[in-house]
Amino acid sequence: MKTFELLVNGEKRRVRAEADKPLLWVLREDLGLSGTKFGCGAAHCGACTVHVDGAPMRCCVVPAPALAGRRITTIEALSGEARGRALQAAWIAHQVPQCGYCQSGMLMAAAALLAEHATPSDAQIDAAMTNLCRCGTYPRVRAAIHAAARELAGSRPS
Ligand code: FES
Ligand code: FES
Repeated sequence: MKTFELLVNGEKRRVRAEADKPLLWVLREDLGLSGTKFGCGAAHCGACTVHVDGAPMRCCVVPAPALAGRRITTIEALSGEARGRALQAAWIAHQVPQCGYCQSGMLMAAAALLAEHATPSDAQIDAAMTNLCRCGTYPRVRAAIHAAARELAGSRPS
């Protein structure tokens, strides 16, 4: 066991856990942040996507102590920024979630994409959104990302 500190959603959180425990399970089991989901446990599906220093990371394969001192953001904090709120509104308007299981990871990947490309092309969306969805929401995801980008562009001062 190891004691370490993580910066999660703007708060310092002290954790005591196995040194190789993936961040996903520290978030879910030790910090009570269950919005980040387990899908494959092998960095393939994207269900566990969080942001680390603003970049998307599949946290099911990353030992939590390795992220000490990094800025970790989970789906629970997504609505704290305009980009996240625009995406959530577009997700609702386009009825993106079906069973919903993959969607927190989808939203985190989409937020990271919009941070990098304010108005992404279809190709940029396809390149960034490699998350898997058993319900096949891919066309709705793409439409909602375009809608959120338009909304954000309209609200930016010119
Ligand atoms: S659970 Fe992490 S990528 Fe699938
Ligand atoms: S909405 Fe069901 S797995 Fe994606």
